[in-house]
Amino acid sequence: MVWSDVDDYLIDKLITIDNELEDILRTNEEADLPAIDVSPTQGKLLYLITKLRSPKNILEIGTLGGYSSLWFAKALHKGAKIYTLEANSEYANVARKNIEQTPFTDQIEIIEGKALETLPILAKRDVQFDLIFIDADKENNPAYLNWALKLANKGAVIIADNIVRNGEIIEEHSTDTRIQGVRSFFDMLENHPRIESTAIQTVGQKGYDGFVLAIVK
Ligand SMILES: C[S@@+](CC[C@H](N)C(=O)[O-])C[C@H]1O[C@@H](n2cnc3c(N)ncnc32)[C@H](O)[C@@H]1O
Repeated sequence: MVWSDVDDYLIDKLITIDNELEDILRTNEEADLPAIDVSPTQGKLLYLITKLRSPKNILEIGTLGGYSSLWFAKALHKGAKIYTLEANSEYANVARKNIEQTPFTDQIEIIEGKALETLPILAKRDVQFDLIFIDADKENNPAYLNWALKLANKGAVIIADNIVRNGEIIEEHSTDTRIQGVRSFFDMLENHPRIESTAIQTVGQKGYDGFVLAIVK
């Protein structure tokens, strides 16, 4: 597929995939984790957005093996932190081991459990976020957006991945609960008084998909 070949070219030209990032993808594969992490070009975009925003705290919903967490971490300033939520204990263990091999153990906190159960606990710790990455079970995107708004500082960036899903997003009567979750998420974004947003369609190694980029007013 030409999209994938072009991605290879862009990665070759613009992206240094260092040993730490490569190691995570390798150990994820060895541990049989699904290859649903962000692509290198998307990871670099998360890194660049982090550099632009200089967040004190990042919230990530959906850790998998910690690949996107590491992209964020590489752009963080000293003292800044990522809280990343993962429901699957096997994946969380792999992520923990992966992150232990990096210099970012103090900056990446992996919180195990279903996000809708761990978010209220996190909220009690009184942490506010400048960047929130929603990348877990799409059915719960509307609930995650409500949590994001509760926990976001003014001017916070919200990014939500996998919002095009091969174009299925326009299927109003889809029986796929993930599609319905993302459609409800878009319904919330439409004319939301506290959010300015756009969505970008993407093609590449991970097929045809897209992401939402939003700012909390
Ligand atoms: C697309 S993957 C995340 C990929 C990761 N952000 C990356 O790019 O490296 C989605 C992850 O969300 C996790 N997940 C699914 N439902 C969840 C829930 N209710 N709470 C927390 N995590 C969940 C899955 O186990 C999976 O690891």
